[in-house]
Amino acid sequence: MNTPIYNFIYNLNHNNILRGFMPGHKGKSLKKSLESLYQYDITEMRGADSLFEASGIIAESEKNASKLFGTEYTAYSASGSTLSIQAMLTLMKWEKRKAFAVRNIHRSFLNASALLDFDVEWIYPRYSNEIISGEINLQDIENKLKSCKEPSFLYITSPDYTGKIYDIKKIAEICHKYDSRLLVDNAHGALLAFMPENIHPIHLGADLCCDSAHKMLPALTGAGYIHTSRPEYAKNIKKAMLLYASTSPSYLTMMSLDLCNKYISENIQNDINKNLKYISELKREFANDIDFAKGEPFHLCIKNFNGKEFEKFMYSKKVECEYSDFEYFIMLMSPLNTEYEYKIISQALRYTILSIKPVIKHNDSIDFPEMKKAMSIREAVFAESEEISIEESLGRICAETNIPCPPAVPIAISGELITKETINIYKKYGIFTVNVVK
Ligand SMILES: Cc1ncc(COP(=O)(O)O)c(C=O)c1O
Repeated sequence: MNTPIYNFIYNLNHNNILRGFMPGHKGKSLKKSLESLYQYDITEMRGADSLFEASGIIAESEKNASKLFGTEYTAYSASGSTLSIQAMLTLMKWEKRKAFAVRNIHRSFLNASALLDFDVEWIYPRYSNEIISGEINLQDIENKLKSCKEPSFLYITSPDYTGKIYDIKKIAEICHKYDSRLLVDNAHGALLAFMPENIHPIHLGADLCCDSAHKMLPALTGAGYIHTSRPEYAKNIKKAMLLYASTSPSYLTMMSLDLCNKYISENIQNDINKNLKYISELKREFANDIDFAKGEPFHLCIKNFNGKEFEKFMYSKKVECEYSDFEYFIMLMSPLNTEYEYKIISQALRYTILSIKPVIKHNDSIDFPEMKKAMSIREAVFAESEEISIEESLGRICAETNIPCPPAVPIAISGELITKETINIYKKYGIFTVNVVK
């Protein structure tokens, strides 16, 4: 597969063109070791196309991506899934659709909802032990959509931070039965289209979906996609993105997406298969000692230890994780990991499980009540606020959604009244102050 963005910048450098155009670094770095990086950083000069009015090399590269992902249309984001989420919600706003969302959303959804003034109706997952990952009840979704008299959309996050995947095919069927739209935050699942079985949300029936390429593919930070299966959204996606994005998106980031296309078309399946083998060997090796969460296999999520303690021992063996808390220790792997790296992980795991004891967990369900709204998300976000201690917050209106980050799942959401149960959950996650409306 061709790489038009990379080729264009390569030729520019190769032909020694004098840079009478932005950026001001002129392809030179203040650090010699970073020089080649700077040489590939350009802006919308002649021939370089322009992300939000793409008709040249960027459009060609995006078409390559669309073909690989099997979408009606795919656009690049140089501002991660955050920009794609803003654009997806804007498309829904233009259609005047009501928002339903499963509650384990990332803060980017809440911020976009505040900007667009969505009065979101929540669908609560069934939680046990923790709030990162819960079970969605399909009947809950059906009941909400069935009783809604206006056009609507449903927003879900799958995979979640622990790798849990929801039944997107069934959820899409329910949405379409009620002429609703399914939007999937697939920030953690860019590689799902290339697994032995294609389980990418668009393939399974989602109408719109975002992927953070930078989380699971060999792409630079900020690289993301917005995909759609519907032609009517295809033509408005860039218009929606432009409302929020910088007019100077990073060419380094876009070039990394361009190079991903070639990697996906030539190598990814082989690398995924190799990694799936190493991951299942690793899980087999530790089957008696470690409880790995089920779900998307590249999320190595360990559940039966205190994650913070686990992290300390793993780090002493030079292995750093993506996330840890008192419940979880999570490592994100990618198709680029090697057999040798899994050996290092295996040695570090062996050392860690000999050093600390597992934690016996009771399958307590978390008492997460349906929260009462006192004002809209937008009103609360833009209201005057003050920071107070959690102890004093009972009955106050949450202003800024206080999110343990990562995993970035909200407890009380802006505009909601803080209850006794939410205070207990805050404390459990080590949060002792909250911003409330003054
Ligand atoms: C579930 C989820 N959605 C969206 C985002 C935002 O993605 P990005 O950082 O690519 O903008 C994140 C980032 O961590 C995330 O975990």
